[in-house]
Parts: sequence; structure tokens; C-alpha cells
Amino acid sequence: MKSNELRQMHLKFYQERRHQLAAAASLIPENDGSVLYVSAGMQPLIPYLKGKKHPQGKRLTNIQRCIRTDDIDEVGDDYHLTMFEMMGNWSLGDYFKEEAIKMSFDFLTGHIGIEPCRLAVTVYKGNDQVPADLEAVKTWQSLGLKDSQIFYYGDDENWWGPVGETGPCGPDSEMFYINDLEDCCTSCGPACDCGKYVEIGNNVFMTYNKLEDGSLVELDQKNIDVGLGFERLLIIKNNLENVYETDLFMPTIKVLEDLSGLVYDTSNQKYFRVIAEHMRASVFILSDPSGIKPTNSEQGYILRRLIRRTIRMCFKLGLHENILKDLAGLIIDQYKAVYDQLEVNKAYTLDQLDMEYKKFSVSLESGLKYVHKYLNKLNDHEVLSGKDAFKLYDTYGFPLELTVEVANEYGKSVDVNQFERCFKEHQGKSRSGSVNKFKGGLSDHDDMSIKLHTATHLLNAALRKVLGDSVYQRGSHINSERLRFDFSFDRKMTREEIDEVEGLVNEVISNDLDVTYDEMSLDQARKLGAIGVFESKYDDKVKVYRMGDFSLEICGGPHVENTSELGRFKIVKEQSSSSGVRRIKAVLE
Ligand code: SER
Repeated sequence: MKSNELRQMHLKFYQERRHQLAAAASLIPENDGSVLYVSAGMQPLIPYLKGKKHPQGKRLTNIQRCIRTDDIDEVGDDYHLTMFEMMGNWSLGDYFKEEAIKMSFDFLTGHIGIEPCRLAVTVYKGNDQVPADLEAVKTWQSLGLKDSQIFYYGDDENWWGPVGETGPCGPDSEMFYINDLEDCCTSCGPACDCGKYVEIGNNVFMTYNKLEDGSLVELDQKNIDVGLGFERLLIIKNNLENVYETDLFMPTIKVLEDLSGLVYDTSNQKYFRVIAEHMRASVFILSDPSGIKPTNSEQGYILRRLIRRTIRMCFKLGLHENILKDLAGLIIDQYKAVYDQLEVNKAYTLDQLDMEYKKFSVSLESGLKYVHKYLNKLNDHEVLSGKDAFKLYDTYGFPLELTVEVANEYGKSVDVNQFERCFKEHQGKSRSGSVNKFKGGLSDHDDMSIKLHTATHLLNAALRKVLGDSVYQRGSHINSERLRFDFSFDRKMTREEIDEVEGLVNEVISNDLDVTYDEMSLDQARKLGAIGVFESKYDDKVKVYRMGDFSLEICGGPHVENTSELGRFKIVKEQSSSSGVRRIKAVLE
């Protein structure tokens, strides 16, 4: 079965069971600085899991592309990916456990064709607050699963969520495909990493909300959140051994064979696989409308890691010329029928890959020489010093993780703590957003971020007043120190224009305007002349934030109450972001 047939089969299955097809979200969470990438199909649905009415009803389905970088080191094995597609179905206070489990079972056995004896499931064994999930057990038993196919785990394995620190979460029942009917050891089970059990999906019973103090309160409605692993089910459906044999990756592997003149086999498969996987993830990230590009922090750092690791793996295959664009072009052609933004943003994607290749390939060779020299000098018990790792980062552009990987190939480790100290000394700040956030960690909505968010609206409005209506937001990112705003405009701003924009924003701030909002339909917002991102929202009602007559913008908030709280606005940088897009960095003093 081709990959797209599986997508269609899944959506049809749930649509026939009265689920509405909900638009999938962008890879970058909208209006949410707390996580770097969307990592689960439920993430864009959080307000609805908490009780807000969804315009499409109580039963939804879609296929959401997700990025999870926790598994990056596993990429190259048969199953693990950094970007994957999750086939989802949700009940927002409609059907519950029994029906959800039965539907998953029917899909997996009846449509994917998994023999019931090849299924294993886990259920929540309970703790002192939440009881064991006997209802799930009973349902699985009623479907014919034997006791030997049902495993009980606690909070570590069978509690899902929240995404970040707070929000909807609950006990779950994970589903596994039994790859191999032999046990590897007496304690073998789905939590064992021998490879016998492959996770193919998860039924989450989203019934709790986790609060900031760590306590759990029951949600008003009982929700179901099911995610099925698209790629893994494609492997099983086609009776294949691994994800690289599917039509998702085989074309890239074949082109890599042609370009390198090598035959893909067990001696080199890791390089082929990492290149194919990381390039696909990079292409999807780059083509996201939010305009992410390789940088040293946040989403951009993850992207940089993926691309730079790809380049090193290309070197390993003897590919020293730039083939990233060839691979990206192929991936775009392959996926554009399903994900049309790949074609729309093709020029940007290829451009960014080109620039990143140019930046890194020159220093990679010399950096590798440097690191090899130092690794060879080390005695058996010695680790690579953090100073050397920092030099590789600072001078040669080696992401720390890449250095760790190279060191590991020599059986060595890296003094990561010393690296962090060097980094702080040189930068005067922590690497929040790179190492700390790499696993999808969090940043808080602190006061400064909220102020900067409000200032972003003023900046957006001021730019349109000074530069004209062709200015549109192309990206925005805020941390607790500065705002960054990307917008469409095809030349450098003059000093006068920058001063005028800055002056306008400060004038509005000093006018002590109240920041208020109204809820209305997208159409009304459009008619009122509100600016903002109009595309693919789930809500039919949106919030429109107003600051006097100066700014009217669609946004989820949060904002300060009055512009006087903002202090002085200062543009610290105006630079190019990509072709036709400028970037402003600004602070509040
Ligand atoms: N949210 C759950 C998961 O990501 C099920 O979709 O596993």
C-alpha cells in the first residue's frame, strides 16, 4: 500500500464513524512560546480538550506532522524518526474508553491487518490519586486479548501529558505490534527496549488538567486522544522490515546510492538513513510558513543540528559537494501533493539549505581535523574537554551534540558541564533554547515576554504605516530579552524609516492606551481591517486585540492591560531574513 493510500484509509475510517476532518496545524505552535515544535496531534486542540466548544463538533480526525527530537540518536534504526505523521482521532467529551479502544482495535486488525495475537497493550496500574484502569483492561479482554498481551505500568509509562508543565493529561493505553514472538528475557515486555514490541499507537484518556502547583483536577469533560504511528503502520501494512523500505524514504535512498556510487547495505545504512530522515525533517521545517531558518537557538538550533549532521553524514559517504538541494528537491516533489506548502516555500527552503551548507562545509573539514587530533591524543580514561568542544562550537560551528557524536565514535565522551561554563563566560547568558530546550522543553510566559508580545503588535502596525500595506508578518519570536519580527519587505529600511517606526511605537506607548479585545468571526475581523494570520484556525471566533486606533490585530494573547506598562521601545537590529523578508530585533528598556 502506498503511503497516501494509508492516509486516506485512516481518514475515511474515522469519517465514516462521524469524525470531522480538522485542519492539521503548522509544525510551529501558534501563539505559544512554550514549546518549540508541535509534537502531538492533540497540541493544537488543548483549549477544546479543556472544554471550549470546537466549531466542527465533538469527533475529530486528522493527520498531524510532528517533530520529536528526543529520539534523534536512535534515528538510523528501523523505526525512529525526528519527524513523523500522527494519525489522530479525538472525542471532545463524546465517546469514551470502550468505543475508542474498539475503534483502534478494528482499524489495526481489520484495516491494517494485524493479527490479534500480534497485539500487546499497556494499561495504567494506578497510584494513590488515580485508580487502576480496569475499564481499559476489560475492554481489551472483551476484544479477545489474552492476559499475556496486557501489561500494567505506572506513571512513567502509562500517563500521557501534559505537553509542557500544565494542561490536559491522563492515563493511557498504548498499543504495540509484536515483532517477534520470542521473549528476549524473563522481564521482557513493551517497556523492554529489545525491539520485540514496537509502539504503534496510544489511546489517551484525557480526563485531568495538571495545574502549576502540580495538582491534578478532573476536567469537565472526558476526552479521548488517540494517535497512531503513520510510518510504523505503513511498514506493518506492507510487511516491510523498516521505515526506509517504504515509499516515504526509498526514493531518497536510491538517489543517494546514485550520487555516492555506493550500494546501501548494513555497513553504511546508518549514514544513508540519517541523511534521508534529517533532510525530510529539515525540508518540512523550512517550508513551514513561520519562516524558521538555521540559527543558534530555539527551533533554528534544532534545524541547524539536523542539517549539519546531514552534511557530516554526506561526508561519510564521500559526498563532499553540496547535494542538499538535490535531495530537498526530490523530497518536495514527492510530498507536495499532500503538503502543498513544500512547493509554495520551495525557493526559501533551497536557499536556506544552500546558505547553511556554505557556512558549515568549509569549517567542517578543519573542525574534524581539529577534533580528531585532540581525540587521538587522549588517554583511555580521558574525556574531550569542554574547552575543546567550545572551540569547535565557536570557531568551527559544531553543534555540541555533533562533537559528542564524533567523540562517541572514538569511544570518548565530552565534558559537557565545562562546555556550558565556557559558553556562559563567552556569551554571558545560558544556552536556553538550545540544549535546555532541545527536548521540547519550555519557556515561561514571563512578564517581559508578555510586554514584548504587545510591543510586537505596535511594531507590526507602525511598519505598515511607515512602509505601506505590503508589509505582512512572516514570523515572530519572543524570549524574555527581545522580540524578533519578520515581515515582507524587499529592501533594507533606511535609518529615517527605522527612527520613524521606533518613534511611532514610543508615541503610542506614551499615550497610555488600553489594550482591549473583542471576540468575533474571522470574517468580521477581516472586514474591520484587523491584521494577523488568517489561515487555518480551528476557531470560527477569534480574538481581535485593539490599541486605540493604532493597532487592530487577531491574536490569542496574552497582552499587558495598558501600553504605558511597556517602557521605551528600541529597535536594535534591522537585517535581511531571507529574500523579500526583513527581520527586526527590538527590546523594551
Ligand atoms: N497524545 C498522544 C501521543 O502523542 C496520543 O495522540 O502519544
